[in-house]
Amino acid sequence: MCGIVGYTGPNQAVGYLLEGLKTLEYRGYDSAGVEVVGTDGALHGVKCAGRVSALVERCETANLVGTTGIAHTRWATHGAPTERNSHPHRDCSGRISVVHNGIIENFRELRGYLRRNGHELVSETDSEVIAHLIEDAWEGPSRGDLVGAVRSAVGRLEGSWALAVVCADAPGQIVCARNGSPLVVASTSDGAYAASDVTPLASVTSHVIQLENGQVARLEQTGRVSVFDEHGVEVGAPSSMDIDWDASAATLGGYADFMAKEIAEQPEAIERLLTGRMGSRGVLLDELALSREELAAIDRVYLIACGTSYHVGLIARTLIQTWAHVPVVCDYASEFNYERDVLVTPNTLCVVITQSGETADTLTAARRMRGMGCKVFAITNVLGSTAARESDGVLYVQAGPEVCVASTKAYTAQMVASALLALRLAEARGAMGHEEAERHYRDLCALPDLIREVISRSWQDKRAAAVFRRAHSALFLGRGVNATTAYEGALKLKEISYLHAEAYPAGEMKHGPIALLEPGFPVVAIVPEDRVHDKTVSNIQEVIARGATCVAVATDGDESVASLVEHVLWIPAAPDELLVPIVAVVHLQMLARYVARLRGCDVDKPRNLAKSVTVE
Ligand code: G6P
Repeated sequence: MCGIVGYTGPNQAVGYLLEGLKTLEYRGYDSAGVEVVGTDGALHGVKCAGRVSALVERCETANLVGTTGIAHTRWATHGAPTERNSHPHRDCSGRISVVHNGIIENFRELRGYLRRNGHELVSETDSEVIAHLIEDAWEGPSRGDLVGAVRSAVGRLEGSWALAVVCADAPGQIVCARNGSPLVVASTSDGAYAASDVTPLASVTSHVIQLENGQVARLEQTGRVSVFDEHGVEVGAPSSMDIDWDASAATLGGYADFMAKEIAEQPEAIERLLTGRMGSRGVLLDELALSREELAAIDRVYLIACGTSYHVGLIARTLIQTWAHVPVVCDYASEFNYERDVLVTPNTLCVVITQSGETADTLTAARRMRGMGCKVFAITNVLGSTAARESDGVLYVQAGPEVCVASTKAYTAQMVASALLALRLAEARGAMGHEEAERHYRDLCALPDLIREVISRSWQDKRAAAVFRRAHSALFLGRGVNATTAYEGALKLKEISYLHAEAYPAGEMKHGPIALLEPGFPVVAIVPEDRVHDKTVSNIQEVIARGATCVAVATDGDESVASLVEHVLWIPAAPDELLVPIVAVVHLQMLARYVARLRGCDVDKPRNLAKSVTVE
């Protein structure tokens, strides 16, 4: 959350900074700001409440001239999203300016200290204290040494931060620091760059340096980047990686919004992930970094995730338990982190599922599990993300940049990745023979075409969306693995259309949610041909009997459902009922998108949400 971008080099900074902010806007979009070191030796900036587009408009008349600058797009934690609270924040002298992502936990204490020492703080944010702490150091022992001043300031901070700092008295320099919140920097022949993640850097370089916790970096106008450890010693070979993301992958490419584009990309993403995964001796998943013997010994699996990724965990739990016969616990990271008694064995495998690889709660959980001696495996989409770097093994789902805040292609790709993990575990433990694993692999390979077919039926979702146009609430029902499809469908609808939606296992409806039903109340039932089909049809009967309006996701040709409900979202038959959620959810993604558009919502940037939640 919060996006940071910085540039120093031979070119004017503002154009790049604003373009960079646009690509980072998914991290937060309630206010934005930019600051450059002007040719007159002073700082010049523009900030405003609202989106980056509002900042771009303001900048058109502001004429910010300077070749060193920093910029920020905010997701408010402390203080409302007003112009005053937006970043960058300056010190009292107005010569030091800071952008920050993270949370300063001891900011109240620091504000008190700074005020007592004559500093004037003008915002309600935690971040502003950093500019004043740097000012103190700059006025004192670190005069002329911006790296030293930033090091001294961060030494007083508790919490998490990714910072970029400019100082009018250190022209041509940006100093960055990282602890907990991600930050990457790059050295090029055309200047030096800093950003919260690689997205804004993909257009300027294919090689980035990932700052580690405790490190500070100095970026110079020549393009030189120097990285220092927590003792101030220059790091010889900082951690770096190649970016193989195509910068154009983060553009709309003719689609109305990123959600539409990312829904459409699902078949290719799954194909990419599955290619070459079946060898003559079984499923190829070397990323696990565990020997066959170590895999065979695993006697418990913990799946930990947040949001949509948690729903992947619920599906993964069924796949692993069914195929590999290992007991699985699946928990929200934010719950797991405060659970007193976590029962791990010496052979427990922890799997964290996180699209961004930066979700604070999930990272805390992974560290807790590692602390207890467990091997941690990450399923993630973002190359070089913190989850990837801090895990023993990592499986990249290769879905490409996901820009829409509501996750779609990462969700289905992560489910497929979980299926590969389940198969690998099943083989290693002897719970499944090679032929059976091959059959399951073939079933997985059928998914892209099934999803293509569902996408071609989007007109069904468009038509059904009218049911929700003026609704105040909706109920999603499903059984077995498709209870999870119901949870995910309700989450998508809430996220992007602001329509209250609740999801329940269909058989539980009679224990409470049925009281909500009245004529016209919208209910979405996921009722594919599977072992619980008839039970779910009975639940649909109960819904209809109360006058509610039912939209059902059903298998092609299922007249028993079509004869009951108002709208059917048809899915082709899947080769394995455990894989139906990967196909059925695509209708619910499209339905949520159409409902959001009907209700006039911005599907890519829903209010109050952020794609990457780096606070607990
Ligand atoms: C945020 C996003 C969700 C996402 C969740 C977990 O809440 O808005 O779309 O599912 O974080 O993110 P992760 O990157 O860990 O999968």
